[in-house]
Amino acid sequence: MTSPRKIVLAVGGGIAAYKAALLARECLRRGVEVRVAMTPASTRFVGPVTFTGLTGRPPVVDLWDPGHGGEVHVELADWADAIVVAPATASLLAKMVAGLADDPVTATLLCFGGPRLVAPAMHHRMWANDATQRNVEQLRRDGVRFVGPTDGPLASGASGLGRMAEPDVIADALERMLDELDGGADDAADLRGRTLVVTAGPTHEPLDPVRFLGNRSSGKMGYALAERAQRRGARVVLVSGPVALPAPAGVTVHGVTTALEMEAAVAPHLATADAIIMAAAVADFRPAEVSSSKLKKQAGVDVTTVALVRNPDILGGLGQARAASGTRRPMLVGFAVETEDVVGEARRKRISKQVDLVVGNHAGVAFEGDENEAVLVSATREDATGRLSKHALADRILDAVRAQLEG
Ligand code: C5P
Repeated sequence: MTSPRKIVLAVGGGIAAYKAALLARECLRRGVEVRVAMTPASTRFVGPVTFTGLTGRPPVVDLWDPGHGGEVHVELADWADAIVVAPATASLLAKMVAGLADDPVTATLLCFGGPRLVAPAMHHRMWANDATQRNVEQLRRDGVRFVGPTDGPLASGASGLGRMAEPDVIADALERMLDELDGGADDAADLRGRTLVVTAGPTHEPLDPVRFLGNRSSGKMGYALAERAQRRGARVVLVSGPVALPAPAGVTVHGVTTALEMEAAVAPHLATADAIIMAAAVADFRPAEVSSSKLKKQAGVDVTTVALVRNPDILGGLGQARAASGTRRPMLVGFAVETEDVVGEARRKRISKQVDLVVGNHAGVAFEGDENEAVLVSATREDATGRLSKHALADRILDAVRAQLEG
């Protein structure tokens, strides 16, 4: 970040509020000035004094503070370059949609005309509820950015999509948002109104509680696609295998581990997505048996055998289901990471998997770095891209997606 920036951290009333303290500290560490506004409910989860100690200023917890000379929500909104809402509860999202302004957080938000980044956190059923999803859609249309939620253990003991993104991930998303304000490219919103599903990363196929079969995919290509599609106006669902990358701002991330989980996460989108881009390096095989206890070495045994069974070909399955339905939607895009005859393999895969476009690339450059070199193979064209950053390649792929969706 180039110059000191000022944000209001708006804290909602969920258990993840304790992580808002870590977020405040992380923003300060990155040179961002932080003032805090709290909903009444949030003060039950984390004491206001915690934020006073961290930021050096008391958080705003009361719109009616007689000790404040003016309208505190107006003053905060005038002061801030951006507002980060973390955690955003289901109720807070609904209030934002409705334009309610009955506490320091909602009043400041309603008064603020700048960029807003929202980190939702709630039980997975509250997140999945139609009402919440409608509210999220509306807020996205209103220009609000989202980071998370992510998949994992929730406060109730259940597990699912609803965990707040980690503080450093939210801080990354905030930095990207502020950097864009500093004169970032004005992206064409040429994918607005489209829903894109992108898969990314490897899958891990467990052998026992501590070991798995995996591959070297970093997830960077899929994350670049998700990030660029979101910037070009699409609603993006990113189904991600285990990677060490922050969730792109404004993208809904569904974390999975195995190929079977990835298949289950992608399948429901066949009926609704405009395009599905399978950038994940899905394991073709998984161990036939998963040991419930750690496998031990046996004295005198130097060679052992692991029986593997085939995983479903997720993309091939989507191609087959689409062909059976007689439609051309959603557009289906696959990747072919090869060590030789990249173009030939991409052609063969496009036909055998019954998909529209295959991005062929060489295993040597595709997996871990920030650059890639590809050939885009469709029924009518073969475009060699030359060496590009993964973000630039993502744009080339999205150009092809847009062209087909418009055609
Ligand atoms: O057949 P191959 O693994 O080379 O195909 C690669 C393409 O198919 C990628 O788009 C990958 O995401 C997808 N794939 C899949 N399910 C698998 C294996 C690959 O969807 N089991």
